[in-house]
Amino acid sequence: MVIAIDGPAGAGKSTVARAVAQRLGFTYLDTGAMYRCVGLAASSDPDSPAGEVAARVNIVLGDRVLLDGRDVTEAIRTAEASEGASRVASDPAVRAALVAKQQAIVAGGDWVAEGRDIATVVAPDAAVKVFLTADPEERARRRAADLGQLVEEVLKAQHERDVRDQTADRSTLEAPKDSIPVDTTGLTLDEVIEQVVTLAVEAK
Ligand code: C5P
Repeated sequence: MVIAIDGPAGAGKSTVARAVAQRLGFTYLDTGAMYRCVGLAASSDPDSPAGEVAARVNIVLGDRVLLDGRDVTEAIRTAEASEGASRVASDPAVRAALVAKQQAIVAGGDWVAEGRDIATVVAPDAAVKVFLTADPEERARRRAADLGQLVEEVLKAQHERDVRDQTADRSTLEAPKDSIPVDTTGLTLDEVIEQVVTLAVEAK
């Protein structure tokens, strides 16, 4: 069974997806971490096409994130890594390579998969499709608190990323037709987790 959680940057997808997976005894798949790894690998191998890099790299997700055996858990969370991820993610060859890896991963077992295109591309047959949103200021406030940066700076970078993420095949600001929109603005984390867990239990 797959529970798909999509939505824009800063909507709280990672925290919610991880908590929901724990509550249900499912495994959590952070597809953004995979794009971040490819961004990192591509930047240290600028002569190879990013799609080739994406197909070649070995990414291991878990408590620690390993990229070709190197621990990149912290390295993939910097502002530069976010930029790099968003840039390689607009390359169709990168997307094809990572979607293939993601589909192989979720083919067995129970998963809470989080990203931008889970419900539409990676797992169109997902049992539950949730689209998490929050208004832009709230998203920026949450990320600024996480990163220890100014809200204004985060808001600007977030807007640029939203625009870049907003391409034809991964519309990140609107819920796909068959997804359930959950607006987290003003909700506590526990309230959001409860809503998603309820949807999952109903779908079982
Ligand atoms: O979710 P996270 O912020 O870690 O994702 C990093 C970047 O990877 C996003 O800005 C987006 O461009 C890209 N991404 C994507 N498709 C996914 C997950 C992430 O394009 N399924």
